[in-house]
Amino acid sequence: MIDQTTVNQILDTADIVDVVSDFVSLRKRGSNWVGLCPFHNDRKPSFNVSRVKGIYKCFSCGEGGSAVNFIMKHEQMTYVEALKYLAAKYHIEVKERELTDEERTAQTERESMLVLNEWACQFFEDQLWNTTEGQEVGLSYFRRRGFSDATIRKFRLGYSPESRTALYSAATRQGYSRDLLLKLGLCKDDNHGGAFDFFRSRVMFPIFNIAGKVIAFGGRTLKKTEPAKYFNSPDSPVYNKSSTTMYGLYQAKRAIAKLEKCFIVEGYADVISMHQAGFENVIASSGTALTEGHIHLLHRFTDNVTELFDGDAAGIHAALRGIDMLLREGLNIKVLLLPDGEDPDSYAQSHSLSQVEQFIAENEQDFIRFKTGIVLADAGTDPVKRAKAIDDVVGSIAVIPSEITRAVYVQECAALFGIQEDVLLRELQKRMRRLRDEEYKRRQREQARQQDTQAAPAQIQQTTTPPATGTTPPPPSQPPVPAPAIVRRPTQVRLTDIVRQERDVIMYVVKYGMCYLCDTAYDDGTQQPTTVTEFIQSEMEIDQIELSEPLHKRIFDIATAMVQPFYHDLEAYKRDTEAWKQDELRSRLQNLDPTGLTSNDLQTREQEITAAVEQQVAQRIDLYRQCYLEKRLTSHPDDDVRDLATDLVTEKHQLSKIYTQNGYVATEFDRLFTLVPKAINAWKNAVIADKIRSLQAQMQHSGSTAESAQLLQRLQELFRVRSELAKLIGDRVVNPK
Ligand code: UTP
Ligand code: MN
Repeated sequence: MIDQTTVNQILDTADIVDVVSDFVSLRKRGSNWVGLCPFHNDRKPSFNVSRVKGIYKCFSCGEGGSAVNFIMKHEQMTYVEALKYLAAKYHIEVKERELTDEERTAQTERESMLVLNEWACQFFEDQLWNTTEGQEVGLSYFRRRGFSDATIRKFRLGYSPESRTALYSAATRQGYSRDLLLKLGLCKDDNHGGAFDFFRSRVMFPIFNIAGKVIAFGGRTLKKTEPAKYFNSPDSPVYNKSSTTMYGLYQAKRAIAKLEKCFIVEGYADVISMHQAGFENVIASSGTALTEGHIHLLHRFTDNVTELFDGDAAGIHAALRGIDMLLREGLNIKVLLLPDGEDPDSYAQSHSLSQVEQFIAENEQDFIRFKTGIVLADAGTDPVKRAKAIDDVVGSIAVIPSEITRAVYVQECAALFGIQEDVLLRELQKRMRRLRDEEYKRRQREQARQQDTQAAPAQIQQTTTPPATGTTPPPPSQPPVPAPAIVRRPTQVRLTDIVRQERDVIMYVVKYGMCYLCDTAYDDGTQQPTTVTEFIQSEMEIDQIELSEPLHKRIFDIATAMVQPFYHDLEAYKRDTEAWKQDELRSRLQNLDPTGLTSNDLQTREQEITAAVEQQVAQRIDLYRQCYLEKRLTSHPDDDVRDLATDLVTEKHQLSKIYTQNGYVATEFDRLFTLVPKAINAWKNAVIADKIRSLQAQMQHSGSTAESAQLLQRLQELFRVRSELAKLIGDRVVNPK
C-alpha cells in the first residue's frame, strides 16, 4: 500500500528519541536516553533509547524495537498505521491509491472507529462554528464562560444540534455504518432499524488519546432540567474510561514533561480554563476516581503531582481518599485546596496568571503533612482518636516505595504528633511487614491461578489423546484403550548447535551487514571492497552451505537483495557528505585566526582542521553503513523478521567491548574483520560436526565392510575439510583495514 521509497524516507527521517518522547519523558544518560517503561509498571527508569541505533529497549520487561515497533505497540496500531503515523509526524507525503472495497472491509474495526470519531469531531466543530443554532446556543455559551476562540479550537470543542438525527443522517450519508455509530455510543438504537443521536443539544468535549486521536466525547447539556449534566461515550475498543487516557493529557503532556509537574483537577471546564490562564500541565480525572491505569499513564510523564480540590469539607474528604494509590506508585503528591466555593475553572477565570501562581506557591501542601494536619485536628486531644490518627498516617507512609522519603516523613510526623521517632518507626515497620505479607500471599494466589490455567491444556489432552494404535483404527467393538496416565509434553524447541551458530552469523548481518569488511581478491587479479553480507554470501557459495533455519534464510535473502540498492544510496549519501565537508572546511578555515601565527603554524593548523573534518566524514559514512540494514530490518513489515532483528540488535553481546592491553576499548565494530570469519567458521564447524555424527551413526549400523570403508573415507574427508576451514578463509582475505 505504501511504496518502498516512502517507507525508506520515513525510516531515515524518524528519530526514535523524538518519537518516543511524545509518550515517555526521557532523560539523557551517557549516549542513551532513559525513562520509565510504558509497557510495564516501571518504577525506576529501565527504558533505554538509543538514537544512533534507532532502537528502544526495556531492560526490565524486555520489550524492544524500532520507532515503528514502538508506535505499533504503544498505540495498538498495525504496521501500516504506524508508518502513516510517522509520516504524518514528519510531514512526509504518503502516496496511496484509493482503497478497494475489499481493502476497506479489511480495515480493522479500531481503525474505522478512529476515523469515524474524527469525522464526528469535525461534524460537531462545524456545527458550532458554521450553523446558526451552533453559534447561538453553543458558541455563545462557551464565550459566556470565558473561553476564547483559540481555546475552543485548541480543545476542538463542538456542538451537537437538537435535531434527533442530525449526526446519524450525515454519518450514514457519508457511508459510515450504523453498527459503528452504535458501538461508539454516538447514536442509540431506535428499535426500528434506525438510530438517533445520543448527544442531542449538548456542547461537545472530544476526548483524545495521548497520540491525539479522538477516542470518545463528553457532552454537556445547557438545560437546567436535564438530569445528567454530562453524557460520556461508553467504553469501546478505542476507549477505556479507567485506563486509556485522562482528559487533557494530549494537550498537556509536553508541558508536564518539561515542567516535571502535573496538576490534577476534576472537570473538563477546569482543564480548559487553567490552560487558557497559562497553566498547560493540567489534566482531569473527569469526575471518576483515579485508577491505577491513570496513575501509571501519568507517571510516564512526571514524578510530581498536585491535586486541586475545593476548600470545603467535601473537597478535603476527597483529598484524603485515593491518594495512597498515588503514593504507592512512587509519585510525590501535593494537594492544593482552593478557597471555599471556588473550583479551578472559576479561580483561573477570575485571577491573573501571577495571582494563581502565587496562590499555588503559598498553599500547595505536601500530602503527608496535609493529612497529618487534618487527622490531628479531627482527633483533638482524645488519646484513642490520636492513636488512630497516627495509625492512619503511618499507613500512608508505609506504601511509599522510597526508603529515604519514608525516613524523612517519619521524622517530620513524629515532630507533628509530638511522639518519639523510633516509636513511629516501629509502627511503620510493623505496617510494612503486614503489607509485604499481603503482597506475598497475593502473589502466591496469582501463581497458583497461573499454574491452574497452565495445567488445563494438559488435562484436556489427557482425556482426548487418541489411543496409540498405529495407523489402523481400533475395531468399533473394542472399547477404547484408556489414554496413558502421563501425557508427554512436546519436547521444548531447543536451538541446535547449527542453528545457534547460524544465528550468530545472522546477527552480524543485521548489525553490520553493509559495513566494509575487507577487500576480496579475484582470479583476474582485481580487488574489490566487500561488505559483511557479501563476504558471508561468497563463503556460503564456495562451500555450498545453506542456512537451515527458514527465518535466518529470509533475513539473509533480504540483506543480499539490499546490497545493490545500498551501494546506490551510499553514493548519494557520500555526495551529500562531500558537500557538507566542503562547507564545514570553508567555515572552519575562515574562522581560523591567523594573528600571531607563523606561516608554518598556520599550515599545521590548517592540516589539523582538514584531518579532523575528514575523520568526521569517515565516521558519518561508517555510521550510515552501520544503520542502513539494521534500520530496515528492525522496521521490516514481516513480524518475524522484525522481531528477530530487534532481538539480535538489542541483545547484549559478550564481545561488544574488548579491552586491549593498552587500555583502548575495541568495539565489536572495530573487530568485525576477526569476528565475522570466526562466526562463519564456527557455523561451518557445527555443520561438519553434525555430518560427522550422522556418518558415525551410519557406520555403527552398516551391514557390509565395503559400506563401512566408504563411510570411513567420507568421514576422513570431512575431518580434512574441518582442518582446512581456517586456511580457506585466510586465503580469500587481503588487506584488512
Ligand atoms: P463538574 O460538575 O465539576 O464539571 O464535574 P465541570 O467540568 O466543572 O463542568 P461545568 O463547570 O459545570 O461546566 C467534574 C467532571 O465530572 C464528570 C465530567 O467529566 C466533569 O467534567 N461528570 C460530571 C460527568 O461525567 N457526568 C456528570 O453528570 C457530571
Ligand atoms: Mn465547573
